[in-house]
Amino acid sequence: MITTTGLTKVYRSRGREITALDGVDLHVREGEVYGVIGQSGAGKSSLIRCVNLLERPTSGTVTVDGQDLTALAGPGPRAGRQLREARSRIGMVFQHFNLLSSRTVQDNVELPLEILGHSGRERSRKALELLDLVGLADKAKSYPSQLSGGQKQRVGIARALAGDPKVLLSDEATSALDPETTRSILQLLRDLNRRLGLTVLLITHEMDVVKTVCDSAALMENGRIVESGTVSELLATPGSELAAALFPVSGAASGEDRTVVDVTFHGDAATQPVISQLSRTYNIDISILGAAMDTVGGLQVGRMRIELPGRFEENVVPIGFLRERGLQVEVADTAPAPAATTVPGPAATAAVSAPVAKEGAK
Ligand SMILES: Nc1ncnc2c1ncn2[C@@H]1O[C@H](COP(=O)(O)OP(=O)(O)O)[C@@H](O)[C@H]1O
Ligand SMILES: [Mg+2]
Repeated sequence: MITTTGLTKVYRSRGREITALDGVDLHVREGEVYGVIGQSGAGKSSLIRCVNLLERPTSGTVTVDGQDLTALAGPGPRAGRQLREARSRIGMVFQHFNLLSSRTVQDNVELPLEILGHSGRERSRKALELLDLVGLADKAKSYPSQLSGGQKQRVGIARALAGDPKVLLSDEATSALDPETTRSILQLLRDLNRRLGLTVLLITHEMDVVKTVCDSAALMENGRIVESGTVSELLATPGSELAAALFPVSGAASGEDRTVVDVTFHGDAATQPVISQLSRTYNIDISILGAAMDTVGGLQVGRMRIELPGRFEENVVPIGFLRERGLQVEVADTAPAPAATTVPGPAATAAVSAPVAKEGAK
């Protein structure tokens, strides 16, 4: 639904060149929610602004719903009619809502319809329908200043849907909201994705957002996509930074002669009692050092860091047992923690296992 090939963007300001996008190949499938994550300055906003040609790419192509937008853009700085039409079918939601304070909620939603030249009655009907869709039917006559942040963002989303877009772009739409409001807005985006078949490309710096709503994700660093795939593909990729950030586990070995392994669960394997099977089959005690489990797209997925007695050479067979059951197993490279060697036993294990599930990756 959205494809970019070799997308680059170089900003020139005061004689300096800043490469914000450095050859980005992005592929977002129809009907999915796709999250792009990365630190500030990674190029996320530049990417999303190039996708609807609000920012003219320096080179490369952008195709949305089969239409090559870069070809429509023409040589001049102003958008031609064809590009404006194509853009009206790409909704955009902003971090700071970008509502006009002098207009009512309804008039804000009607604005893009005015620009598209719809009649007054048609605009009004559509705006009220959209406000109902985002749960704000009773706020049509209010002004933005009378709304909470979450309600303002709902207006922003209703406005973005005015042109019946197939694609919704969202740049940090929940960054200015508290956690509970964030959840309700994400739920709304997910609902719209399902009910309208809307393809959503969202930018975020919060891993939780990816975990809650995204089918696929990409990690951006220095203007490049360094990893991408569906959440379960990422989990199945050994050494994936995104998977590690989505499901962070930590914990150090409690002694010299221990083997620490990270086990990744996804799909069917997640529901089998493999750890207790392993323990019984080989008659070994297994400590869980840390775990991060979650349900993503209806599938239980997650990672667990476990400790097996004995060095790696002695654990080749148990590790093989886990792999045979479809689990991805990576031997973690952890030196024993100084505290753990002086205070061995369950207390040390509990201390490292508790906080991991909440660790973000900001
Ligand atoms: N209009 C601009 N002019 C010059 N440099 C810019 C402009 N917009 C963004 N940049 C630079 O491009 C890089 C990527 O920025 P941006 O796309 O906003 O990243 P992100 O959204 O991931 O924080 C940064 O180094 C930023 O300073
Ligand atoms: Mg940004």
